[in-house]
Amino acid sequence: MLRKKLAVLLATAMVAAVAAGCGGADNTSAPAADAPATEDAAPAEDAAPAEDAAADDGEAAAPAASGDVITVGYAQVGHESDWRTANTQNYQDVFCEANGYELSLIDCDNDNAAQLEAVRNFITQQLDYIVIAPIETAGWDTVLQEAQDAGIPVIIADREIAADASMYDAWVGTNTKNEGITAGNWLAEYLDGKEAKILVIEGSVGASATLGRSEGFNEVAKEHSEWEILDSQSGDFTQDGGQEVMESFIKSYEGQFNVVVCHNDNEAYGAMDAMDAAGIKYGVDGDVIIISFDATHDGLQYTLDGKINCNVECNPIQAAVVAEVIQKMQNGEDYEATTLVNDEAFVAPGIESQHATTMTEEILAGRAY
Ligand code: AHR
Repeated sequence: MLRKKLAVLLATAMVAAVAAGCGGADNTSAPAADAPATEDAAPAEDAAPAEDAAADDGEAAAPAASGDVITVGYAQVGHESDWRTANTQNYQDVFCEANGYELSLIDCDNDNAAQLEAVRNFITQQLDYIVIAPIETAGWDTVLQEAQDAGIPVIIADREIAADASMYDAWVGTNTKNEGITAGNWLAEYLDGKEAKILVIEGSVGASATLGRSEGFNEVAKEHSEWEILDSQSGDFTQDGGQEVMESFIKSYEGQFNVVVCHNDNEAYGAMDAMDAAGIKYGVDGDVIIISFDATHDGLQYTLDGKINCNVECNPIQAAVVAEVIQKMQNGEDYEATTLVNDEAFVAPGIESQHATTMTEEILAGRAY
């Protein structure tokens, strides 16, 4: 019998911790024959094994207690971004054989139907636990009921779903609305009453990371009559998507905008490429302020270089927290129903902010993903 503790745990320290003995190896199990393709994305060049990321982060997730292998299915969103690559690598590092796990990680390639199929295959295979990073918030009730009927605990990770909390067992992720609020508050502080003509490159349609960041940012924007959001389009959390949307924004709004908000770093890279091609200067020395989300290694490099003005973190290193929840379930102990992974924000050198930390070489050197 699983015992849920209804408190919200704020995971800051333990989020990057993993058990010793695993690192970087591909521990992905083969999918069922009719399942979507397994994860094949290589880790980013700068993605180090999570032990490095854990260096100052204390406690490690306990290995499987009984000696029996715990089978875990992870229905991963896809491989759309550097964030996602880091998140996948983190699950492979934590849910490895040496830690007592067998991980079936399915890359759902941003396809809802494939993700539902992946979860159904996990149920058919009678895996011990199912972890879902939901592509979209909607459409989960039926398959969650099927998992419940099969007696398989489900942990929703990274993003949120629009289902009653009784339909799943635990949630681990970041507060994306707060990320949007932080971005808005930083912009208000930076502009100090000056006008903003804003273009937004949103994430994937229907994803809670998109909805949360938009809701949070728009909430702040409403308080500023001197701001106008000129347009908002989805770049699907990809570099190509960011570039395409920015190219079309430039055609429609050239000379009319001074802020571009990108819902993740990869979109920001695409937007910068489009602005470079159009001869538009951005960043601390330019005419256009760039705000990004994720704060991955390369995104923070651009922030340190002054190309991205403000980068709000979304921490992809979440697997140890999920493992902690699973271990507690496994031992029949109380576990946290909701674990919030903490984020911070970073700004380019020369910018002082009460909402964000000014980037340094040291911060970048400590960013493994
Ligand atoms: O759900 C987290 C978001 O998904 C990250 O911001 C983005 O990079 C990813 O694709």
